[in-house]
Amino acid sequence: MPSNEEEMVVTPWTVSGKIDYSRLIEEFGTQPLTDDILKRIEKHAGQLHLQLRRGLFFSHRDLDWILDLYEADRRFVLYTGRGPSGPVHIGHLVPWIFTKHLQDIFGSKLYFQMTDDEKFLIHPEFNLETPTRFAYDNALDVIAAGFDPAKTKIIMDVESAGTLYKIAVKIAKRITFSTVKASFGFTDSSNIGIIFFPAIQAVPCFLETELTGENVPCLIPAAIDQDPYWRVARDVAPKLGYFKPAQIHCKFLPGLGKGGKMSASLPETCIFTTDTPEDAEKKIKNAFTGGKPTVEEQRRLGADPTICPIYYYEYYLFEEDDKKLKETFDKCKSGCLLCGEHKAKLAEKVQRFLKDHQKKREKAKNVLDEFLYKSN
Ligand code: TRP
Repeated sequence: MPSNEEEMVVTPWTVSGKIDYSRLIEEFGTQPLTDDILKRIEKHAGQLHLQLRRGLFFSHRDLDWILDLYEADRRFVLYTGRGPSGPVHIGHLVPWIFTKHLQDIFGSKLYFQMTDDEKFLIHPEFNLETPTRFAYDNALDVIAAGFDPAKTKIIMDVESAGTLYKIAVKIAKRITFSTVKASFGFTDSSNIGIIFFPAIQAVPCFLETELTGENVPCLIPAAIDQDPYWRVARDVAPKLGYFKPAQIHCKFLPGLGKGGKMSASLPETCIFTTDTPEDAEKKIKNAFTGGKPTVEEQRRLGADPTICPIYYYEYYLFEEDDKKLKETFDKCKSGCLLCGEHKAKLAEKVQRFLKDHQKKREKAKNVLDEFLYKSN
């Protein structure tokens, strides 16, 4: 029997239960990423990015239109963001790595929004300083992802309120309470800050247009839980003379526990970018796997990589080579590869990744100011 625990909930603030991505495409009214679109991207990229090849990005709105424009020599901007409610873990990096790839192939400018205001409004226990502090800390991880400093601006919502507000009021005037109630599930007891907030998250979709006076389309790579924001933004765009923002949606990176996405509120199931090599190794060693309770059984019956976070990490992030990945899958299934061995292999890769990321993160401190959007 499906228990409440298993029921799928996907909102910008809660993701739980077993996620059925085809159902989300239907319920949210988005489009699946077709082979045709993938081929078009491949033509520009030279080779399909791992996250496209393996279906991590799986759905979109108007991406075909963005490609049409690009192929007709029109530029577009990229927009993504982060709700800074804690330290960054490797699940957060997934869409950023992909966004950097899009910046590389299309040469696009990127607006990266840090919603310290949103996190203040939805976490009853936060004072305003807490998410703002995380925003500056998390920005180091964004920079470490390798974005082009000449083409990337990080917007700190509270700090840049002046610029954002002037555009947000125009947007807010076109959104009714009943629309946001239906899209976000707000109730009479929701605070009025969060009711207004969807207008703030819509602003970067139109910022380039507002700043330059040229109507510039925007493409948003983001996890699918952010979709309600884009539905509202798309609704108001034509009323204000803007293009509707396009999206490309990704799945959630699972945590190291049994089921569920990687979540900072369960620290033992996620690898933070600032974890020491020992911490990371320990978490991986303690992870849930698709293995059998005893070595004998596993040798005899094999393991199940399709439910195994250790395998997912290779799949989504750490094993570029499709052939090697397939070998790992086969070895898991046949009982050749034991979970302890697989964990040790993954831990090594994760440690290498963290070491490199942490070096870049340190260097980012010197260029942070250059990346910050400055209001005029
Ligand atoms: N609301 C997002 C979060 O809580 C942060 C965010 C703002 C965002 N703008 C975005 C995420 C654009 C993706 C794309 O994480």
